[in-house]
Amino acid sequence: MAQSLTHDVLILGAGLAGLRAAVEICSRLDGRVDVGIVSKVQLMRAHSVCAEGGTAAVLRTEEGDSTDLHAWDTNKGSDFLADQDVVRRFVNTIPNEIRLLDHWGIPWTRDEHGRIAQRPFGGHSYPRATMAADKTGFFELQTLYDQLLRYKSFTRYDEFFVTDLLVEGGRFAGLLGIHAPSGDSVVLRAKALLIATGGGGTLYGFTTYSETVTGDGMAMAYRAGLPLEDMEFLQFHPTGLVPNGILMTEACRGEGGYLKNAKGERFMERYAPSKMELAPRDMVSRAEQIEIEAGRGIPGSDGLPCIHLDLTHLGAERINSRLPLIREVCIKFIGLDPIEKPIPIRPVAHYSMGGIETNIDGLTRIPGVWAAGEAAAVSLHGGNRLGANSTGECLVWGGITGAEIVKALPSLGKPAPVPEKLVADRQARIADLMARQGTENLYALRRELRAMMDRDVGVFRTGQELRHGLSVVRDIRERSAHAPVNDKGALYNSNLFHALELENLLALAEITIVGAIAREESRGAHARRDFETRDDEQWLKHTLAWYTGGAPRLDYKPVVIDQWKPVERKY
Ligand code: FUM
Repeated sequence: MAQSLTHDVLILGAGLAGLRAAVEICSRLDGRVDVGIVSKVQLMRAHSVCAEGGTAAVLRTEEGDSTDLHAWDTNKGSDFLADQDVVRRFVNTIPNEIRLLDHWGIPWTRDEHGRIAQRPFGGHSYPRATMAADKTGFFELQTLYDQLLRYKSFTRYDEFFVTDLLVEGGRFAGLLGIHAPSGDSVVLRAKALLIATGGGGTLYGFTTYSETVTGDGMAMAYRAGLPLEDMEFLQFHPTGLVPNGILMTEACRGEGGYLKNAKGERFMERYAPSKMELAPRDMVSRAEQIEIEAGRGIPGSDGLPCIHLDLTHLGAERINSRLPLIREVCIKFIGLDPIEKPIPIRPVAHYSMGGIETNIDGLTRIPGVWAAGEAAAVSLHGGNRLGANSTGECLVWGGITGAEIVKALPSLGKPAPVPEKLVADRQARIADLMARQGTENLYALRRELRAMMDRDVGVFRTGQELRHGLSVVRDIRERSAHAPVNDKGALYNSNLFHALELENLLALAEITIVGAIAREESRGAHARRDFETRDDEQWLKHTLAWYTGGAPRLDYKPVVIDQWKPVERKY
C-alpha cells in the first residue's frame, strides 16, 4: 500500500507557472499554509529554463504601444481562435508581472537610457519582447526560485514521478506517484491542486523540448476525466538548429537576422512582405517548408534540406551582447560561429497550443483543480501562439491561479480521504506493466512514434497522412504491451518511467491526430493541404477531447469573440 502525505495545496510542476503560483500562495499565507511542490526533475531543471527570447508586455504606451495593440496582435496571430476576454486579461496583467520581476531582482537587459529594453518579435506590431539577453526563461525561473526561498510554507518533492490524478465521485482525491530516489509509492493529498506540467512536444523527434517534457500532466488529467482542448494545434518554431533541434531563438530575427534559401534569397518577401522574417511562426514555418519542397533548401548535415538563419551582418558586438547563448550553442554543438557563418535551421516542434481546458481563472471542471501554463488551455493562443506570449502566460496565470487557490482554500473543506480502491487499481496497472513480457523495445517504439509525428503530423497535413499516423499510434500501443520493463529494481527506475511516459505520449498523439482529422480547415498551425482555407462557418470553435477508455470522443465549444470579428490574416 502506498504511504500517504497531506498538504493544503499541491503544485504539480515547478516551471514558471508552478513557481509563480507557489510564490503567490506563500507570499499571501506564509506560515498559515502548507504547499507541496512536486516535480519530476529537480527544481530549477524545469524546461522553462530553456525559454530564450523574451516575454511580451506593453511598457511603452508613451511611445505608441498599447494593450489594445498587443491584444489585437495576439488575436490575429491566433487566427481568431483565442478567447478575446482571456487575451484582454493577459495583456492588461503582464506589464505588472514584468515590473514585479524587476523588483525581485531579475537582470532585465537595459537600453542606453537604463530602461528595461525590448526587442521586436514575430507577429507583434511593436517591439515589446522584454528580455534577459537570450536566457530569459532561466533568469525568470531563478528569480522566482529566489523569491520562494523567502518563505517557509512549502515542501519540495523533487524527482517525484506522478502517475495518476485521483478523482473519486467528481472530487479531487490526490496524486499517486513514485518517489524516484527511494522507489516508494506515495499518495499526496490536498484540498487544492495546480497542474503546471508543461507541454507535450517530445511527441516529435525534431523538437526544441527537453527530453523530460512528455505531457504527463495533460495525459493524467485526460484519463481522470478532464477534457483536453485544441490539441491539434501544435506550434512549429521556424528555427530549430540542424541536426538536433535546439531552439535558435526568434530573437535572432528580432535582432535583425535574415532567413535565406539556397539561392541566397530572403524568401519571406514572397510570403509576408510587410513583416518578412518577423511574421508569425505558423507562416514562417510554412514558408520554409514550401521553399524546401520547391528544391530551394540547402543540404543539411543530417542529410535533409535546411534553411539558413543568417546573423553575419549583425556583427560580433551585437551577437555577443544580445545572443550569447545562440553563439555558444552553435559553437559547442555544431562547431559553427554565427558571427562568421549562417546557421542551418528548419521548422521544429516547439509548443502545445492545446492543453487541459480551464476557465479564465485557470479552474478546471473538477472543483479544487486548477491548471496553468503550457499544460493548460485557458484559450489565450488559439490556433497559433505569438512568440514571447508563453512565458508571459505562465507568469500571469501562475499568479492568477495562486490567488484563486488562496481565495478558495477556506471553502474547499478537508482533503478527500485516500481512495483505496482507485489507488489499488492504479498500482495494479503498474504491476502489470512491470510484469510485461515480449520482444518489443520501449525505446524503439518511442522513436517510431516520434518519427511518425515528424512525418505525418507536421507543418502541413493531409487526411491521408493523419489517418496513417493514427494507425501507427494504435499499432505502437498494441505492441507496447509486449515491451518489457527490464529494470526490476525500485530506485530511479527510469525504465519504468519511460514506459509510463510512452503511454502518456501515445494518448496525446491519438488526441492530436483525431482532432486534426476532424478539423477540415486550415487555421493557425493546423495547415491541411486538403482543406486549404479557414472555415469560420464550420470551425470557429474549440475542440474538446474526452477520455472514453477507447478512442477519444470529440465535442466543441464556442470561441469568445466579443471585441474583434475575424478577418483575413495578412502580414
Ligand atoms: O524563439 C524564442 O525565443 C521562443 C520564444 C517563445 O516560444 O515564446
